[in-house]
Amino acid sequence: MIQVMDLSKSYDQNEVLKHISLTIPAHQVVAVIGPSGSGKSTFLRCLNGLEMITSGAITVNNHHLNATESKKKQQKTIHRVRQDTGMVFQQFNLYPHKTVIENVMEAIIVVKKQSKEQAKTIASQLLKRVGLQEKEDVYPSKLSGGQQQRVAIARALAMEPKIMLFDEPTSALDPELVGEVLKVMKELADEGMTMVIVTHEMRFAQDAADRILFMADGQIVEDAEPKKFFSDPSTERAQKFLAKVNEF
Ligand SMILES: Nc1ncnc2c1ncn2[C@@H]1O[C@H](COP(=O)(O)OP(=O)(O)OP(=O)(O)O)[C@@H](O)[C@H]1O
Ligand SMILES: [Mg+2]
Repeated sequence: MIQVMDLSKSYDQNEVLKHISLTIPAHQVVAVIGPSGSGKSTFLRCLNGLEMITSGAITVNNHHLNATESKKKQQKTIHRVRQDTGMVFQQFNLYPHKTVIENVMEAIIVVKKQSKEQAKTIASQLLKRVGLQEKEDVYPSKLSGGQQQRVAIARALAMEPKIMLFDEPTSALDPELVGEVLKVMKELADEGMTMVIVTHEMRFAQDAADRILFMADGQIVEDAEPKKFFSDPSTERAQKFLAKVNEF
């Protein structure tokens, strides 16, 4: 579903991603972990074209993006990649002046070109799926952070993505609200969604992911099964990281 070939990304002279190559098959759930500044968000943003890549190539659901191609051609590909990927951020970015259901309907009407009635039916089903059928007509400001994030997930799902990317979806939440969001994500994973999740929730990564990518200094330092990674990391870098995480 995703193939990354020798991907590098620089900001000016600063090389933030260094020669990353990997393949993610359909239905796989990948957790990306690693220290702050290691390039996790940048990697995710390259995957759906929020950042232009400096060199290398990425294939997402058969859309081929190559850094050697013209910007125009890349933009075209990115447009298609975006249609197939849903992204959920730490900040929920809901429209404050739209109700919950209107927030979810927006993409269905604008991008999927469905009628208002159709959009309403689909949005309603999606809100049910994330456990928010009661909140359809409420404004986001009246929701808890966990509820807002679940709306954001429903909104991303409205595009019928083949892949869901999450960048620290629970980091801005009060601890007691983290579980409800992780539960929705776990359900998505169990339904077979291909997912790449940047997270600091080690327990979740261990329970829900099929695979751990440990990043440091712009590289994938370990690529392992969760069980192996958490019980017996191969590198000193990962051992140190896990020791630090476990202090808290
Ligand atoms: N738009 C940008 N312009 C310049 N440098 C950037 C930009 N975005 C990120 N960087 C740099 O790239 C590096 C990787 O950043 P990135 O946000 O990918 O890290 P991260 O692993 O997601 O960190 P965190 O866990 O803190 O979110 C950092 O050194 C950062 O300063
Ligand atoms: Mg980040």
